[in-house]
Amino acid sequence: MSLRRFIRPARRLPVWLLLSVATPFIFEALLHLWRYSVPRPATELDTPFFTTCQEPDVGAPRENAVFVMLARNHELAKAKKTIVSIERAFNQWFNYPILFLNDEPWDPRFIRELNETAGGKATFEVIPREQWTFPDWVDPDAAKQNIKEQGETRTPHAGEEGYHHMCRFYSGKFYQLEAMKKYKWYWRLEPDVDFTCAITYDPFVQMARHKKVYGFTIALWEVGASCPGLFRATADYKEMNGIPTNNLWKAMYSASWMPFPFRRLLSWLPHRDAHGDGWSLCHYWSNFEIADMDFFRTRAYQEYFEYLDKKKGFYFERWGDAAVHSLAIAMFVDPRKVHHFEDFGYRHDKLFQCPSNAPGGQLPESQLLGNESMGAWSPESEGGIGCRCTCDGSNPRNYGDYCLNKLKQPTTVHRRWFAWLL
Ligand SMILES: *[C@@H]1O[C@H](CO)[C@@H](O)[C@H](O)[C@H]1NC(C)=O
Ligand SMILES: *[C@@H]1O[C@H](CO)[C@@H](O)[C@H](O)[C@H]1NC(C)=O
Repeated sequence: MSLRRFIRPARRLPVWLLLSVATPFIFEALLHLWRYSVPRPATELDTPFFTTCQEPDVGAPRENAVFVMLARNHELAKAKKTIVSIERAFNQWFNYPILFLNDEPWDPRFIRELNETAGGKATFEVIPREQWTFPDWVDPDAAKQNIKEQGETRTPHAGEEGYHHMCRFYSGKFYQLEAMKKYKWYWRLEPDVDFTCAITYDPFVQMARHKKVYGFTIALWEVGASCPGLFRATADYKEMNGIPTNNLWKAMYSASWMPFPFRRLLSWLPHRDAHGDGWSLCHYWSNFEIADMDFFRTRAYQEYFEYLDKKKGFYFERWGDAAVHSLAIAMFVDPRKVHHFEDFGYRHDKLFQCPSNAPGGQLPESQLLGNESMGAWSPESEGGIGCRCTCDGSNPRNYGDYCLNKLKQPTTVHRRWFAWLL
């Protein structure tokens, strides 16, 4: 019998039959996607605190807040660059303390120079060994071996043991340090950062006033190879604990187009939950953060961190604190309590956000702002919200828009027409 004969009957399968078999699946898939669509709010739920320069209110009460920077002795020049920048753009008016953290003893020269750059407002702490090492349930030799192998896969930083400790430290430890315990708010800094606009109001005060918990500047994709098991662990945790789904959690998803029951098979892939739906890999870039440590100190967050820690993914994968913070915020925090500092100019490495300057909003005569601190600022432009930003305005928004649009969906009215697909 020839092959043709076998095939011929299939060709004659009537269209109506095909359609009637396929329709329920298509319908199910559409219904499923609809369940993950994020409704548009009636009004903007997260707007900039100010959209023009303000006369810095130097006498106003401050919040209980601190800058925190993890740095190593050899990063002196880069750390200095950041402090020069934040002092010029903000802290010369607001004078918040700056806490430097190191996993090794400080070089006296670093202390002297940075304290001077920070106008005498800096303190220098060494992170206790037990917060910067493998926990009891991780076999150090196995972990070191695994980290070495991760290094060979060229996943960024995955081959550096210290980087793994750092991610774990920023995920679950920093807010418990003796030196941090007395503060409620923190603003995280990194060496080698530029603040490219003047920040003429107190963001801690505004966060508190608007009941915000977490503030970010840049949202982008996580490196998938660094954390294949993180999303599954998190989604399982959420389900196990019956944590309700909010719209920010939905916004983290790239829901699957595959109909039931085939969808479930996808759960074997990385970055998928038990039902086969995926995480978009979008997250807030945590090297800039202004946040309320009371959130991280809640039992809910602590238990989530401890659960992740027991999974050993900080060492046998390279789970980053940015992804951990972002998924936790999405899981536990009302989306209205997340703030995008879209009026801040921020640059770290090649990634940056820089808004255009607000028309008529630059306070050129201000004595306090002076004319020296930010130098010559960029031209004002329609729709700009920046204060004395020094960037060319050609790239006013985040590094790529995809993740930013996605994570802002629950709070933003103006969305691109295709956003519901994302
Ligand atoms: C930093 O400078 C201030 C003012 O000069 C000084 O009082 C303080 O002790 C210095 N701090 C450190 C850690 O050296
Ligand atoms: C600052 O510069 C602007 C022009 O850029 C000028 O109009 C203004 O008078 C200057 N202000 C001071 C205090 O020098």
